This record gives sequence, structure tokens and C-alpha cells, in this order.
Amino acid sequence: MLNLAERPRRNRRTAAIRAMVRETIVTPANLVAPLFVTEGKNERIPIKSMPGCARLSLDLLIEECRELEKLGVSGVALFPALENHLKDRVGTESLNPNGLFPRAINAVKEAVPGLAIFTDVALDPYSCDGHDGVVNDFGEIVNDQTAEILAKMSVVQARAGADFVSPSDMMDGRIGAIRKALDAEGFTNVGIMSYAVKYASAFYGPFRDALDSAPKFGDKKTYQMDPANVREGLREIRLDIAEGADMVMVKPALSYLDVIRSVRENSDVPVSAYQVSGEYAMVKAAAERDWIDGTKVALEILTSIKRAGADVIFTYFAKEAAQHLG
Ligand code: PBG
Repeated sequence: MLNLAERPRRNRRTAAIRAMVRETIVTPANLVAPLFVTEGKNERIPIKSMPGCARLSLDLLIEECRELEKLGVSGVALFPALENHLKDRVGTESLNPNGLFPRAINAVKEAVPGLAIFTDVALDPYSCDGHDGVVNDFGEIVNDQTAEILAKMSVVQARAGADFVSPSDMMDGRIGAIRKALDAEGFTNVGIMSYAVKYASAFYGPFRDALDSAPKFGDKKTYQMDPANVREGLREIRLDIAEGADMVMVKPALSYLDVIRSVRENSDVPVSAYQVSGEYAMVKAAAERDWIDGTKVALEILTSIKRAGADVIFTYFAKEAAQHLG
């Protein structure tokens, strides 16, 4: 027999003891479900590379939101899928108060007022170039003109019922511009969830299928961050909080747990992390082949994201996870 003063296994012996000493608990309240909106009635257009996810027409969107609320999920992040003929270089449709997106925001707010609505602020769903900002004749993404449009877009979304406008574009100075525009219109209660540390990641592939929003040329590396950098992320966080961000995000999540930890330790606002489409697709693909238990793997990953320091997790597993977390 070993003469051991400490036997850590004693604290793992029964389910009751394990539950008692568990350090990290993911609850449905930590989760935000991203949802894709499309025109029509009773439309559910499955997204091939994201099994279980679909573009939903407003009626089905509301049904889905009701179910999520019942399961205790705190919020939804809405993204519009627009027809190509509505797209142009400056994202004109994003400012249309009767457009698909404001109607969707309003419908969810009316039908399920208890759910927090995060609305996407960026040009890519509305841009014929598939970029998050305005592209000039040299193929450059123009910062300040884009920030101005994003500020106007935020006001349209706030008026429709957004709880948090969520700029996902990575332009410099857009948080300040948005805060100023919201306040000027009296929307001092509408928050800003900044996609502050968003990497130029290959994990976004399936999402661009979902919205048909892949860049028509080049890549997003002049605005989204280099996956190799973490200090640069802290700089982004510092600026966004100074400009008025109420929450900040790290995106993607699983390959960036060290960044989440670092952001947590260097800020005093809630930190969110976005488990993106490619992260979801990998788990689903392996689960479909019976190579892993998809739900267990998903819950393990969500726990790791929270353990790294995220308060809020944007995840396509929100519903499935909430059903199992009970
Ligand atoms: C674009 C946007 C993207 C995602 C959310 N907003 C893609 C991109 O930057 O190209 C990705 C989300 C995901 O992959 O799940 N504004």
C-alpha cells in the first residue's frame, strides 16, 4: 500500500461529491443562439455545412425563439440572409427601416420580449463585395465611411428593438461612432456588444455559406486580426471599452482559449466568446460518422470556453446544450 497523505481521487468518488466541488458550471443563461433569418412563410432552408441549422422565415424564427426562451437560453444573435439583388457596394438595404432585418428584430421583440436580442452590425450581408465595409476602387476597405454607415445601421436596429447592437466588422472607431449615434437618437439603454477581438479565421466558412456572404475578392486580413496575436487583442479591448462597449467578444472560441483568459484578466466588462460555424461543423461532422458523441463533446467544449473566462457564449449548440443542461 502507498502511504499517501493526499488522495485527490476521494473528491471524485461519487456523483454528489463531484457535483459539489465542480468549479465551472455552464447554464442555459450563459448561452446565446445565433439564428439566420430569411423572407417568406414557413420557410426552413437547411444550411448544408451546419447540420441542424437553417435559414428561418419570421414565423419559424419566432417559434424557435419561444423554444429557446422556454429552455432558459438568455439571448439570440440575429443575422439576415438577403437576396442578391438587394446588395450593393454601400449596403443601402441595411438602412431600410422596413427591410427584412428590422422586421425580424421587431417581430422577435414583440413575441418574445424576455429574450435578449443581439443584432449583427456589419456590411457583409448587404454588400455585393461580401466585405464587412465599403470597398473603394483600389480594393481597400474604407474605415471611416464604413463606421458612419454602421452607426446609422445601429440606430435602425435599435429602433426595431435590439437590446445589444453587435458590430462584427472590426473597423477602427466604430464603437464610439455607434455610441454617439445611439445616444443622439435617445437610445441610451441600447447596449453595444463589440466583436472586439475577431480573428481572420478559416473557421467562418460554413457561416458564409449560410448567408451567401463570402468575400468576392481577397480576404478580410486588413481588418480582422492575425490568429498569431494576443497583445493586439488587448489593445482592441482597451479602445472598445474606452469608446463605450458594454461587452466584448473573442471570436472564434476553442482555438483562442488563451485569448479569452487574457481578455478576462485585462477587462472589467462581461466577456463573450463565439463558438463559430466551423467549430460547430467539425463536431457535427464527426458525430454523424459516430466517431464522437456530439452532445458530450459540445458540452465539454462549452465548459472549456467558460472555464477560460467567458461569461457569455454564442453557440449553435445553444438549444441542444440547454436541453441537456436542463
Ligand atoms: C461577418 C460575420 C462573420 C461571422 C459573424 N459575423 C463571418 C466573417 O467575418 O466573415 C462568423 C460567424 C460564424 O462563423 O459562425 N460580419
